[in-house]
Amino acid sequence: MATSASTTPGKTVGRPYAVVTGASSGIGFELARLCANDGFDLMLSADRPLDSAAQDLGSTGARVDVVETDLATREGVDAVIGEVGERQVDALIANAGHGLGKGFLDQDFDDVEHVIDTNITGTLYLIHELARRMRDRGGGRILITGSIAGFMPGSFQAVYNGTKAFIDSFAEALRNELKDTGITVTCLMPGPTDTEFFERANLMDTKVGADKHKMDPAEVAAIGYRAMMDGEADVVAGIKNKLEVAMAKVTPASLLAEQHRKLAEPGTAKAEGKKTTGSKARRDGKDG
Ligand SMILES: NC(=O)c1ccc[n+]([C@@H]2O[C@H](COP(=O)([O-])OP(=O)(O)OC[C@H]3O[C@@H](n4cnc5c(N)ncnc54)[C@H](OP(=O)(O)O)[C@@H]3O)[C@@H](O)[C@H]2O)c1
Repeated sequence: MATSASTTPGKTVGRPYAVVTGASSGIGFELARLCANDGFDLMLSADRPLDSAAQDLGSTGARVDVVETDLATREGVDAVIGEVGERQVDALIANAGHGLGKGFLDQDFDDVEHVIDTNITGTLYLIHELARRMRDRGGGRILITGSIAGFMPGSFQAVYNGTKAFIDSFAEALRNELKDTGITVTCLMPGPTDTEFFERANLMDTKVGADKHKMDPAEVAAIGYRAMMDGEADVVAGIKNKLEVAMAKVTPASLLAEQHRKLAEPGTAKAEGKKTTGSKARRDGKDG
């Protein structure tokens, strides 16, 4: 890693401290690993037990605290803030999030709310609390996991894509608001990545869920971590995803929605392999 945790802006004394949400698996776990390898102590949070993540990352010499809590709730976020206590947060990695497949009217509304409350409300509440402290001391790094899904109306994952459009936009706006404060805000925008995301979102019977060519979460995390340490505004993970985003910006929304249907409609996994070859595969936008 070219950059080192010691370059964290603000007056860091001793080992820097990173708060990483959604650190039990996937991209968040890999982001936490990069922080630990770079000299950060850690506060990890997720909804499931974090013991093995803590044990694994603790072997780097990092002090690792964990909070198992539902970050879709105010109480859950308050538990994280309580665990942080008075400690100075040098890096806040707001990564927790999940998807939700199937048609909107076929989804349970409690599940719909949970996506919005996790991906948007809980994420913003945590940032609101911890970024105020960063502003008071004049420094800190914030990395928010958005998605290339934010550039596409997500038929059969409509709520999720909407939350990521919100996050992608919010991150850029917050960065601008904080430009003279010493705080950097970076948005990591992955495309389909090989994590538990698709299973958890009930997307395994879809073409995007069954796709065997997803990116490695360690690679995606490395791209995001580097962008955060360099203070970049945003980064799309991977050349293929960069092309998808470039195409999405010049493609009518109705066409993007139709393309998304082909990827995320239940049952489209069966077509995988038969139809997804050559130029057609490249024409179909992909997200996660
Ligand atoms: N995989 C992709 O293709 C892809 C693409 C673009 C963006 N993303 C984004 O990347 C981020 C990480 O996802 P991932 O792909 O690494 O999937 P993952 O392996 O399922 O990891 C998601 C993490 O978020 C946590 N989480 C989700 N909802 C939570 C809640 N309400 N409270 C506490 N923790 C919660 C999960 O913990 P528990 O399981 O313990 O709840 C887990 O640690 C998400 O924001 C996702 O939207 C993923």
